[in-house]
Amino acid sequence: MPHALAPPSPDALRACMSRFTTGVTVVTFAADDGARGVTMNSFTSVSADPPLVLISVARRARSHDQLIDRPFCINVLGAEQEPIARLFAGARSLTEPRWVPDAPVPRLDNPLAWLECQPWRAFDGGDHTLVLGRVTDLGHRDGDALTYAWSRFGTVPQLAEGIEHLI
Ligand SMILES: Cc1cc2nc3c(=O)[nH]c(=O)nc-3n(C[C@H](O)[C@H](O)[C@H](O)COP(=O)(O)O)c2cc1C
Repeated sequence: MPHALAPPSPDALRACMSRFTTGVTVVTFAADDGARGVTMNSFTSVSADPPLVLISVARRARSHDQLIDRPFCINVLGAEQEPIARLFAGARSLTEPRWVPDAPVPRLDNPLAWLECQPWRAFDGGDHTLVLGRVTDLGHRDGDALTYAWSRFGTVPQLAEGIEHLI
């Protein structure tokens, strides 16, 4: 069916999306040439049964073709890990990533939370591919969270009370 309205400009879309605050993750996986990671904030929880999460991978990313159909790990970053986020977004950096030795799927050392996933389904998402992952292992620690809004990194403190009442 033809569109009645002209599509929004990329700038207008970006202006709206930049007002939506997200956490920041690095999605890690075993590329053909070794462990690799990509900074992503398109991560979202989808289903509890089965346990599914979603990421959206840019088709133009170097990692796209390998990442969409192999096991991957979502590393949710803590407040002090902005240099890691910048590194895996392609910025030149003095930061060296530290990896967990012998993890079945490459994983960063000491993220705020991590979810190891098997690829479940992939869908056309325009200039991105939407990848659902089935969570096979996970873990978390205490600490403040790294955030992204207004095209800038920020932080949000961990609540003094836990989230036990929610779960
Ligand atoms: C805060 C932030 C969030 C990002 N989120 C995504 C995302 O959800 N999906 C994506 O494909 N790229 C995302 N990017 C861009 C990639 O991190 C960046 O293009 C990276 O260099 C791609 O690496 P590659 O080309 O080596 O695969 C994001 C970048 C930043 C700084």
